[in-house]
Amino acid sequence: MQDVAPKNTLNKKFFIKTFGCQMNKNDSFLMCKILTEHGFKMVDDPAYADIFIVNTCTVRDHAANRALAYTSGLKNWRKEGDRILAVVGCLAKSNADDITRKLNHVDLILGPDSYRVIGNYIAQIKEKKVRIIDTRLSGETYYGIYHSPTTVVDFVSIMRGCNNYCSYCIVPFVRGQARSRPFADICSEIANLVKHGVKDITLLGQNVNEYNHDNLDFAGLLERIARIPGAFRIRFLTSHPKDFSKETVQVIKNHHNICEWFHLPLQSGNDRVLQLMNRKYTREHYRTLVEYIRQEIPNATVTTDLIVGFPTETEEEFLETISMVEEIRFDYAYMYRYSRRTGTKASNIQSLDENTIKRRLSELIPIQNEITKEKTSEMIGREYEVLFESAARGKASRGKTRGNKDVIVQTQIKPGEVRNVVIKEVKGHTPIGELVDA
Ligand code: SAM
Ligand code: SF4
Ligand code: F3S
Repeated sequence: MQDVAPKNTLNKKFFIKTFGCQMNKNDSFLMCKILTEHGFKMVDDPAYADIFIVNTCTVRDHAANRALAYTSGLKNWRKEGDRILAVVGCLAKSNADDITRKLNHVDLILGPDSYRVIGNYIAQIKEKKVRIIDTRLSGETYYGIYHSPTTVVDFVSIMRGCNNYCSYCIVPFVRGQARSRPFADICSEIANLVKHGVKDITLLGQNVNEYNHDNLDFAGLLERIARIPGAFRIRFLTSHPKDFSKETVQVIKNHHNICEWFHLPLQSGNDRVLQLMNRKYTREHYRTLVEYIRQEIPNATVTTDLIVGFPTETEEEFLETISMVEEIRFDYAYMYRYSRRTGTKASNIQSLDENTIKRRLSELIPIQNEITKEKTSEMIGREYEVLFESAARGKASRGKTRGNKDVIVQTQIKPGEVRNVVIKEVKGHTPIGELVDA
């Protein structure tokens, strides 16, 4: 990357670097839309930008440190010309004081509820050479702002924030209380995406099962979205096992355009740890829910998130997470070691030593990886409905099954096409298939 481009090209051009989850990525699209409407233009090389936005994550220590180190490294970029550096998102909210004190080259610090006015703030900074900090949580839902899609796969936030206060988690503190968007707003955004050729839409929320607006619950919302005209597939992220209703399973079963992919974070397989985590379900509840899903929808894909080394977790309790992993046989799992987050309830409990936490994670990962491998191998010989998304190396194409598994075929297929594919082999972790109707 060059540090600076010719002066005359530096005018109202912005570059965004995004850390964190899909919610944050979606927020970057949102900022892009807001800034474009203010006459700014996005560029894909920061050398040509006069505004640099770092959209940050703070869910774990590692994510926070990465975003901080990245921002520290932008001192030279900031020095050149009349430039503005903005740090936004979850870390901006949790560490605004730190950033203000330690990173003098940052001009703008915005929390996740302040993006609507980002263009005005940038104009003020340009004009008055001031530093602006706005990390208020206002209950913003960004009503009426619909980003412009760039691919056939896209995302729509149906709610923002979270009220669950899982004892390890910083999200409720940085994104505020849960609030659901009205159906009319969600529907308009989906219709806009579909009009622009989007074929696969993931509904986003920290706990989508808690969606509630004007007495419309998540099952009702899904049903209404499934009836929106247009050929597109629907998914949703993330589900909370305590709130996942049987009605929702039935809606998924009854609508072919809703994909049978269930991302159901288990976090721990031990009841005492689950209680300390404030997850409000038991191992038995989780097991029964997955049994019900698999009984009603036999080809369901079930994925999860797991945390090892939660404060006070004993060896036996950790082994109960392993036994749940072996019993449920998740298609895929995101596995994390516990990371202490200041301000959360669990941060008041003495942490386990780092070596124990690391060792437990290193024991869990190969067990789940083997299950993932076996599950992927089971795809061989079976037929899947694949939505093609992009070209792959050497005249091949990449697409996704309804269960969210990446598949490659050695044929050129236009992004957006849905074709039936039989899986012939697995290379590395990727299933390779052939078109049924080639
Ligand atoms: N709302 C979702 C849920 O309830 O599962 C996702 C929240 S978070 C963005 C994604 C995952 O990060 C969580 O499911 C959890 O496994 C993990 N996570 C959150 N806080 C953590 C912490 N302090 N240490 C380690 N992992 C954490
Ligand atoms: Fe965090 Fe729990 Fe909310 Fe998920 S449901 S964002 S883990 S507090
Ligand atoms: Fe997402 Fe990280 Fe914020 S996981 S909600 S960007 S803390």
